[in-house]
Amino acid sequence: MSKSKTSGYKGPCGYQKRKEGEGRNCVRYKCGLTNTIQDVLRHRPGWVEVKDDAEWDFNWCDVGWLRENFDHSYMEEHVRICHFRNHYELTRKNLMVKNLKRHRKALEREAGRLEAAKCDFFPRTFELPSEYHLFVEEFKRNPGSTWIMKPVARSQGKGIFLFRKLKDIMDWKKDGTRSEEQRDETQVESYVAQRYIENPYLINGRKFDLRVYVLVTSYNPLKAWLYRDGFARFSSTRYSLSSIDDQYIHLTNVAVQKTAPDYDPEKGCKWQIRQLRRYLTAKHGSETVETLFKDIDNIFVRSLQSVQKVIINDKHCFELYGYDILLDQDLKPWLIEVNASPSLTASSQEDYDLKFRLLEDTLHIVDMEGRLTGKEKRVGGFDLMWNDGPVCREDVNLETLGSSSLKANTHLGCVNDREKQLCQLLKPFSGQKKT
Ligand SMILES: Nc1ncnc2c1ncn2[C@@H]1O[C@H](COP(=O)(O)OP(=O)(O)O)[C@@H](O)[C@H]1O
Ligand SMILES: [Mg+2]
Repeated sequence: MSKSKTSGYKGPCGYQKRKEGEGRNCVRYKCGLTNTIQDVLRHRPGWVEVKDDAEWDFNWCDVGWLRENFDHSYMEEHVRICHFRNHYELTRKNLMVKNLKRHRKALEREAGRLEAAKCDFFPRTFELPSEYHLFVEEFKRNPGSTWIMKPVARSQGKGIFLFRKLKDIMDWKKDGTRSEEQRDETQVESYVAQRYIENPYLINGRKFDLRVYVLVTSYNPLKAWLYRDGFARFSSTRYSLSSIDDQYIHLTNVAVQKTAPDYDPEKGCKWQIRQLRRYLTAKHGSETVETLFKDIDNIFVRSLQSVQKVIINDKHCFELYGYDILLDQDLKPWLIEVNASPSLTASSQEDYDLKFRLLEDTLHIVDMEGRLTGKEKRVGGFDLMWNDGPVCREDVNLETLGSSSLKANTHLGCVNDREKQLCQLLKPFSGQKKT
């Protein structure tokens, strides 16, 4: 498990090394978070929590724990942990863009411009201070446009601001480049300066962004699953470009929306993606919406491919990413960021239920119990989106379809009849202790 030289260790609940494919009746887990994941782990039959330095088979750790401990841990074959060692290659704002730019260049070289253009889903971005001069050139080429500054390693809107004048950056350069903690140190905090999407798609005059969950169980070969449910987070205040300092309007800090003066608790500020998909279909027709969701799938696959060779693949690791996607008025989806630790804290009962089911299904796929064959295309609310290549829907007749119109096995915002599916999938185990 987690510590050195533990081979052959027989755990407190009688865990012993088993042959591949055989289930285990006790999983010792460690959990570094105190939210929905704790509840899911506690409810899982046969799983027992261990504390401190005790041996574990499964670890839902935070990224801080990973940084401090991963390199010193010896892990047995069966052990699983919820992050890849260098997850930050995709989840830090500057590195994500660096990897995407490199990937796009390589595609252009190898497959041509048209193929490379399929990576044009992230707003123009520069890392500061290192790319300051490149940024200034670009800034001057687009007079009057709005930009957004974001610290690369912070989250929940902290340190974010919008600007239209270079002067605003000058002020920031003088006294804003350092965070509170860094004021006395020499290291300058890195930011990204990014083109602000000025024309977001609005519903009832409000801006929103999407949170979508993607589970990666292997980078080599790439194996990725897309969850059917997710949500749209709405701004509590009508959108306008006249005030660029208002975080309620621009949705730069989703956590504070509830404290906005015109927040309506009746309406809340979240929609299920299913509701959004229905709304858009009623308004624009199913063909347009199919194209939109296909473009969103493209974002997941390309972004994962952009780091495929960079992420240290490790069979012990999996990662549940939270994607932030923004739609503009032309229904073009933009990738805003990818989170390695998407919030698992619930804001309402509905939100809790979604996260609970999402995490349960994640554990079904990680399959510590050894119940799956490895050939599944669907597990609960997850559909296998990429398995070393595109995954085709089960109900599609390949002979009548050209490969160019391959129907992807993705169902974001579609019905999530997961209980029924899980019942069938896990039927052979219904005699055993299980969820
Ligand atoms: N380029 C952009 N254009 C428009 N809105 C943006 C842009 N970047 C961020 N935002 C808004 O700000 C929010 C926070 O930005 P994000 O990059 O996700 O940082 P954080 O780590 O603080 O969540 C996003 O959810 C989105 O609503
Ligand atoms: Mg975010």
